[in-house]
Amino acid sequence: AAPDRLHGMRVLISAGPTYEDLDPVRYVGNRSSGKMGYSLAAAAARRGAQVVLVSGPVQLPTPPGVQRVDVRSAAQMREAVLAALPADIYIGAAAVADYTPRQVAQQKLKKTAGSQTLTLELVRTPDILAEVAAQEQVLKLVVGFAAETHDVEKYARGKLADKHLDLIVANQVGIAGGGFESDQNAATAYWNDGHRVFPGTAKTQLAEQLLDLIAERLDA
Ligand code: PMT
Repeated sequence: AAPDRLHGMRVLISAGPTYEDLDPVRYVGNRSSGKMGYSLAAAAARRGAQVVLVSGPVQLPTPPGVQRVDVRSAAQMREAVLAALPADIYIGAAAVADYTPRQVAQQKLKKTAGSQTLTLELVRTPDILAEVAAQEQVLKLVVGFAAETHDVEKYARGKLADKHLDLIVANQVGIAGGGFESDQNAATAYWNDGHRVFPGTAKTQLAEQLLDLIAERLDA
């Protein structure tokens, strides 16, 4: 049989949520379970790729043959991803926080007497995917995900263009039977002059189909 297209390639994958700490006991997070990114890492390792998986806090075992780097915050994820470069392929499946608290309190935040509201000030995090895509000389393919609740194609194509990606995998979130937390997912992948629809299936199966497309796009 022909060797797999990904055999021997260095594949860097981010997965899971990030947790942005407010104080020693609280954080701002999101619903990502890591299942999609871990399925991609497992499938790429089975194809003989050298896989580095930068993971936010998740409850999943490390897939066989995968080198895993655990992180918590968006800032730590950025550092770990950049430190793992160069890679042939980067797949950004993590749900990275777009905003992080301006300050992390050193002590537990207390209720303020006489006030019924609390305002948090958040600041933008750097976009890891865009930063990796800007290092094009070391990468053959940069793949992003787009999690959208509406206008999926419009926003996904916007991210493809703005972040200078080779491929973006758009999934609708906030619906039953797909997206965050679920074992299943449906997606549409977009590139400059094409797209491919992946109907709902197990994330393990979708990961195989996405790697087939990634292998095709390497030669495009
Ligand atoms: O983990 P699961 O429960 O399996 O769910 C993950 C998923 C199935 C929803 C997954 O497929 C997915 O869509 N992951 C990305 C979720 C997301 O944060 O999308 P976004 O549209 O907010 O971000 C767009 C892209 O930019 C992503 O590739 C993201 O990794 C990247 N990004 C975003 C912000 C930031 N500061 N840095 C980034 O790199």
